[in-house]
Amino acid sequence: MDSRTEALRKALDADLKEARTAREVEAVRVKYLGQRGGLITRLIKDTDFQSLSQGERRAVGVGVQELKSFAQGRIEKALLDASMAGSLEASYPRVDLTLPGVSPGLGSITPIATLQVFLEDIFRGLGFLVEQGYEVETEYYNFDVLNIPPEHPARDMQDTFWLDNGMLLRTHTSASQVRVMRKYGSPLRAIFPGRCFRFESTDASHENSFYQCEGLMVNRGVTVASLIGVMEMLLTQVFEQLVTVRLRPGYFPFVEPGFELDIRCLLCGGQGCRVCKRSGWVELMPCGMVHPRVLAAGGMDAEQSGFAFGLGLTRLAMMKFGIPDIRLFDSGDLRFYRQFPAAV
Ligand code: DAH
Repeated sequence: MDSRTEALRKALDADLKEARTAREVEAVRVKYLGQRGGLITRLIKDTDFQSLSQGERRAVGVGVQELKSFAQGRIEKALLDASMAGSLEASYPRVDLTLPGVSPGLGSITPIATLQVFLEDIFRGLGFLVEQGYEVETEYYNFDVLNIPPEHPARDMQDTFWLDNGMLLRTHTSASQVRVMRKYGSPLRAIFPGRCFRFESTDASHENSFYQCEGLMVNRGVTVASLIGVMEMLLTQVFEQLVTVRLRPGYFPFVEPGFELDIRCLLCGGQGCRVCKRSGWVELMPCGMVHPRVLAAGGMDAEQSGFAFGLGLTRLAMMKFGIPDIRLFDSGDLRFYRQFPAAV
């Protein structure tokens, strides 16, 4: 009898080890403790009690009883384990850690943003503040206060997107000049890069939205020499080689005198080539000495003077990175963007 109960204990343990789900554990229970054919149940039925002595009968009864409670305990525990494992499995979907991952598709930084951050660093090194400005502006700041009254022909040079509420999309970053002067007073050194908008048809060098970087320096005794000095220092760092600049007269209502700043052609060194159209010089940016009316509107007294410049950030990016068509910037063509690394 002992050997039979021992064998059943072992068999039961082995079966329970295999049973993973509650249903499989139940099958084991039926196999051993089932009312009719259960292996443990049958131990009693199969024993010929007639042939046993009183003491032996007792021993069998106790042995079977022990085996039964042993089996019940084991089965209960197995049932608990199985249901816990089941609920864990249900709440955690199976993850195959060996599968290759899905690439998040890292983007890159646009050449204009790269250049803007690069310029901001250089200007900060020269003691300039970096201001933001507003893309939606008033007629007052975009035109009036810059010495461009309503009937002025300069308004025609800057075809404007007007909004229903009478405001407009700024046509240039100069729109922030007076705001910045009023905010900080003199002495002032600031740049304000940002997006500008013009209502014009597009071609390889014109877009209805583009980036400029305006610069402003106001203090007592600021002269054209200051302007040339700062520009040479700046452009030498931008192009990473010694840059020579020259000024030609240029007209803008908010500067007097106004200039077009050219740089000596970096490709031919001034000998004359296709890029500089044989002139040896490349037109880079308009600039000038801030008009007294603009200074006054900015709250500056008559002792102050200043220079301003309007760097075409988009144009500079085209020059620096050799981009032939301005429309590529907003094309959404990934082949274009992928050519630019995440940082310079
Ligand atoms: N705001 C002018 C434009 O977009 C560019 C400009 C010219 C800015 C002369 C200046 C400046 O600061 O001094 O056409």
